[in-house]
Amino acid sequence: MAENLQALLLVCFWVVFLQIPCSARAQELIVSVPENVAVGKTIFTASRLPRTQAGDKAELPCAKMEGDPHGRFNVTENCTIVVANPLDRSVQPVYLLNIRIGVQNTSVKIELTDAEGYPPVYNEKCETPVNPDGKTGDFLYSLAATLEAVKTDGTIWSGKGTYTKLSDIGSTRYRTMLYDDPWMLHTDNSDCNIRYIWYTDAINSLVTMQDLWYNDIRHFTCTEEYKAPKIFFEVILHKRGENITSDMLKQYVPESVVEDKTHNYFLFVSSVYSTTETKTYNCEIPNFRKPVGSAPWANIEYLDIEVKPEGCPAGRYGFLCDKTCICKNGARCHGFNGACKCPPGWKGVACDIPKQDVSITTTPSDPRHIYISANVTFRCTAHHVDVTYMSVRYPNATEKVGFGVTKIDFVVPNIQPTNNGPYTCQVRDTRGNTLNSTFVLNVTNCTPDKKGAECDEVCDCLHGASCGRWVGCVCPPGWTGTRCQTKCPHGTYGKDCLRNCSCQNGANCNPSDGRCGCTDGWYGKNCSKPCLNGRFGWRCQQKCACNNSATCSNVDGSCACVTPWTGRNCDQWQTIASRDEPLLESLIPLGSLVFLVAIVMAILYKTGILSCSAPDAGEEEKILFELRRMEQDLAQSLQPGWLGRWEKKVRHLTPGPLIGEGMFGQVRKAQLRTPRGELAVAAKTVRVEDSQSYRDFYREAAILVAVHQQRNDDCGESNIVRLVGLITKSTEKYILLEYAPKGDLLGFLRRIRNMNGEEGLHGSLLGYAVDIAQALQELGRLRIAHRDVAARNVLITAHDVAKLADFGLARDVYVTTQYVRRDSPGADELLPLTWMALESIETGEYTCQSDVWSFGVLLWEIATLGQDPCYDGRTQLSFRQMVGILRQGKRLAMPEGCPDDLCQLMKECWRDDPDERPTPGEIEEKLLQLRRSLFSHYEMETVV
Ligand SMILES: *[C@@H]1O[C@H](CO)[C@@H](O)[C@H](O)[C@H]1NC(C)=O
Ligand SMILES: *[C@@H]1O[C@H](CO)[C@@H](O)[C@H](O)[C@H]1NC(C)=O
Ligand SMILES: *[C@@H]1O[C@H](CO)[C@@H](O)[C@H](O)[C@H]1NC(C)=O
Ligand SMILES: *[C@@H]1O[C@H](CO)[C@@H](O)[C@H](O)[C@H]1NC(C)=O
Ligand SMILES: *[C@@H]1O[C@H](CO)[C@@H](O)[C@H](O)[C@H]1NC(C)=O
Repeated sequence: MAENLQALLLVCFWVVFLQIPCSARAQELIVSVPENVAVGKTIFTASRLPRTQAGDKAELPCAKMEGDPHGRFNVTENCTIVVANPLDRSVQPVYLLNIRIGVQNTSVKIELTDAEGYPPVYNEKCETPVNPDGKTGDFLYSLAATLEAVKTDGTIWSGKGTYTKLSDIGSTRYRTMLYDDPWMLHTDNSDCNIRYIWYTDAINSLVTMQDLWYNDIRHFTCTEEYKAPKIFFEVILHKRGENITSDMLKQYVPESVVEDKTHNYFLFVSSVYSTTETKTYNCEIPNFRKPVGSAPWANIEYLDIEVKPEGCPAGRYGFLCDKTCICKNGARCHGFNGACKCPPGWKGVACDIPKQDVSITTTPSDPRHIYISANVTFRCTAHHVDVTYMSVRYPNATEKVGFGVTKIDFVVPNIQPTNNGPYTCQVRDTRGNTLNSTFVLNVTNCTPDKKGAECDEVCDCLHGASCGRWVGCVCPPGWTGTRCQTKCPHGTYGKDCLRNCSCQNGANCNPSDGRCGCTDGWYGKNCSKPCLNGRFGWRCQQKCACNNSATCSNVDGSCACVTPWTGRNCDQWQTIASRDEPLLESLIPLGSLVFLVAIVMAILYKTGILSCSAPDAGEEEKILFELRRMEQDLAQSLQPGWLGRWEKKVRHLTPGPLIGEGMFGQVRKAQLRTPRGELAVAAKTVRVEDSQSYRDFYREAAILVAVHQQRNDDCGESNIVRLVGLITKSTEKYILLEYAPKGDLLGFLRRIRNMNGEEGLHGSLLGYAVDIAQALQELGRLRIAHRDVAARNVLITAHDVAKLADFGLARDVYVTTQYVRRDSPGADELLPLTWMALESIETGEYTCQSDVWSFGVLLWEIATLGQDPCYDGRTQLSFRQMVGILRQGKRLAMPEGCPDDLCQLMKECWRDDPDERPTPGEIEEKLLQLRRSLFSHYEMETVV
């Protein structure tokens, strides 16, 4: 009996030790679950309770008593146990839940078993950026494709497209392919790559696959420079039961999946993307054996794909950013595997379990942003600890102590390399345990833009170059020199100008990426291929008119006649008549060929870049939609049908000599056939087919239409260049403007300076300024900002009237040096920095008041007879420097002999506060007054 009692006591002791209250009938049930079990899953039901208790449960509800301090499980009234929060074996492998059923207690032991690859590892090296809200893609990357393709008629198509959203894909066919067909990811956390595998044998892709197969296009690869293929594409003719011959397929797609396929064709795409770096891949695409499907494409000359990790919006992760992060307590979530990086004081796969911890952090928090001479704040914090004593130890062995506090802040002012070393925070808790944490300070860099041993020299780098403490400016590709002020020498490009351009036949070479801009008559990556099929000119757009076996120059279309033939037909300009261009559908086979590019092309179609068909109502809507996003007021002032009403026929246009050309567009003098005879016009066209250029194109068109609409087409009086028509229904799109024989104001001013020396102001010049002040009033009434008021954008008509032109299209058509690229990455925009108002530089906002600022610069250009505006004696300034100069109140130096009233007016235009600047109406008033007072004498003489 005594022995029995002893045994019972012993059992009770063990049960107590296991933290289960010793009750009359304690029982233990064991449940084994994998640690990665999903939240919400039921892991235990009442049916597993012994019968008698299951009976009890009906009357007496279940409740969780003990054994789960961090709320991992929910126990329902009917004794069902549900996983309430993510589990993690490394934090706690076993839970002993004590459950009360009626008056009895039961313990359930939950054992977690190991799951492979769980929890996901947070590899900081592979961290993807967090895509800020507002510009979220539904995809971890953005893709940009640059491609040149030859059409069957010999014309060249080239363009660039960028896209960040899979849901943007124009054709539902691609969408279904992408979302419905299987794909999988192999992520490699050690080399920060994602391998994306997509394969299909779906019926709706079969036609395309057969098409490709019979065209001998069975696989192609895209290669990163000097590296192994990274994007791999294969069409496989796979017979059921046969061995798999594709190595890639064997390696990445489970055999069971392949064997399971019922169809013969199998399409396989594998691509490896870096999670950290932007990479460009060059694709080798075989020539087409015959035109693919009904598409007018003969082959693809080159295709480059740029893949840039953009990251997922906060709280999401995965290749498609479709998974929800589980990270709690401010933990950062890894973009590609969802792993959480716990802040101090928290642990567990979701960082939701408190952890006794001590941390030492700094402000700025990223050690890379701690620079010499900064004031750095250190913070020592105890998390979930009952502190009795806390101390901080400096590298020089000084100690700072606190009693009963959980936080100590201290500042090290003017930090220097002598302050480097370990800063240790130590905490003792009420039970006598000690915790500590160490931060090793290693500050070596000067603040950005400073260099030298003492960090007292200014780098002053241009073109967004970074500044190294010992090496000085580290130039971006395409620039060189101590301040990166020099473009790569002719024939070279890239980082440090170390690479040689391969552009031929007079093509210009982009100094940053070496891309060639072919001259008339040539195409191909190096511009080494002459136009084919009797075509000539830029992008082989023109058709030769040579007869009788004459050979036609691919450059200018001139004919070398065969005797006895001679004749004037040999050198005529002939424009291509507008034809019905291919529809989107006919592009699809080509599209699926290049898969990723397909998506890009679909986007190009959507944005109207590729679309060669007539701008129908839908097109007009799309353009309006784009405009509305940019300028609400402008979009509202357009009446329906605005685009169609101005449309002219391309066959009525006879292009003539080039009068302006730049990287983005060109302007030709041209003859337009009208019912009232031939009319000389200036025809502007876009050269680079990217969406920015097209937006600029339609913005200019829209503004001009709006201006004319407002004046009821009474254009005689306007000081805004007269719109003659638009051509948007052909491959080449044109804006047709009145032809101004005297050219632009800047050239005009410089001619005066060259002829007369620095003679000073001229009465008629102020008259031009008055004209432009009137133009600004017109724009003000429509609430449209011009954004680029400058002498180069003012045209002088045959009747000596100055008119405002160039609403953003072809920014470098007339000059190239006055535009600066914004430093910030991503904003790829050329901007006329020295003309821009302070607030436009700082915030990118343009208003009628910011136009007034630029108008002040235009007055300055008039007063100096066309000098380049410069601040501090420098014409090349970065955005930051420019803001610095203007914020200090510095402005352009007043030209010598400038009349006081004129100087005063300029200064008023350059006031910091936009609302304090004069209105265009006031400016006109003042200019007229000034002109009367300065030149009345002179003008009377000339009138007489
Ligand atoms: C667990 O219980 C809490 C509180 O009753 C509830 O908010 C939560 O949704 C439950 N979780 C699950 C997975 O049922
Ligand atoms: C237990 O109750 C929940 C609702 O609280 C119910 O969904 C579930 O089916 C019940 N299970 C059993 C075994 O009765
Ligand atoms: C498939 O592979 C196995 C071994 O790898 C080989 O024995 C067999 O002959 C192959 N079958 C065909 C049809 O090639
Ligand atoms: C550091 O603090 C001192 C005094 O509080 C201040 O004068 C100095 O400008 C600060 N330095 C920096 C780089 O913020
Ligand atoms: C140790 O370094 C700290 C911070 O840099 C400073 O405040 C303190 O005076 C130094 N103590 C000694 C003994 O040099």
